[in-house]
Amino acid sequence: MSSKDRIAVVTGGMGGIGTAICQQLKAEGAKVVAITHKSDMDEIAAWQQDNDLTDVDVVAADLVDVEASAAVMKGIIEKQGRVDILVNCAGITRDTTFKKMDADKWNAVIDTNLNSVYNVTQPVWNQMLENGFGRVINISSVNGQRGQFGQANYSAAKAGMHGFSMALAYEGATKGVTVNTLSPGYVETAMTSAIREDVLAAIIGGIPMRRMAKPEEIASAVAFLAADESTYITGVNLPVNGGLFIH
Ligand code: CAA
Repeated sequence: MSSKDRIAVVTGGMGGIGTAICQQLKAEGAKVVAITHKSDMDEIAAWQQDNDLTDVDVVAADLVDVEASAAVMKGIIEKQGRVDILVNCAGITRDTTFKKMDADKWNAVIDTNLNSVYNVTQPVWNQMLENGFGRVINISSVNGQRGQFGQANYSAAKAGMHGFSMALAYEGATKGVTVNTLSPGYVETAMTSAIREDVLAAIIGGIPMRRMAKPEEIASAVAFLAADESTYITGVNLPVNGGLFIH
């Protein structure tokens, strides 16, 4: 499998899963650009050093903002020449039961997890079609496939991402552009460490493998979908969940 000399953009690139994806795509030979909402240059430099990613470009942007996203993607295309691989990995949670879910919690998750996917993909889509090559990989969640108590907002956004993948897959199919969803289960990241201990223990007890995923276990599946060789896979939702949702 190879992504040699491909230009890859990873949103949420400094997050737990995003970092592993940057490392894996780099290992496959891609030139990687990470997009982050962080703006602290010291923090960004430390992340590059600590993760052996000093050759990864880091661009700060608020992906909820349509115009800012378009400007950032245009800048990347100008600097790198094109975008071949786009991994939509930016995401947040605002977990609460629906009876307590105010509009802010709903909108924050829909904006960050779903609307950002439009904001980032739209500006690179036409050049992928014109170039005759593209890989769009949307990082969804097992909870977009099966729902989750306390995540009406998140499950809605994550299910929406796969609707987007399925529709767009048709539009790229004759042009060498594939669009797929990858749905991780529970992964060892800051996002899951925020779950209450007793709740998390119960969740892990329900995973057939009885453990969470390591970020690298998600990243290797992303690299597979992104690879030059993965030419005939489009519109799928690949579960990487330790058996948590088998269907
Ligand atoms: N199914 C049915 N009932 C449940 C339930 C479930 N899964 N979980 C809790 N309940 C019940 C409880 O038994 C309790 O009932 P009683 O009132 O009768 O005692 C009631 O619902 C309230 O439960 P909590 O004490 O948990 O309520 P809370 O308000 O303290 O917490 C919550 C709510 C924050 C949503 C908490 O339940 C929670 O954190 N749930 C896990 C959410 C989750 O999985 N988030 C994933 C984050 S990581 C991620 O999103 C990455 C990814 O893609 C996987």
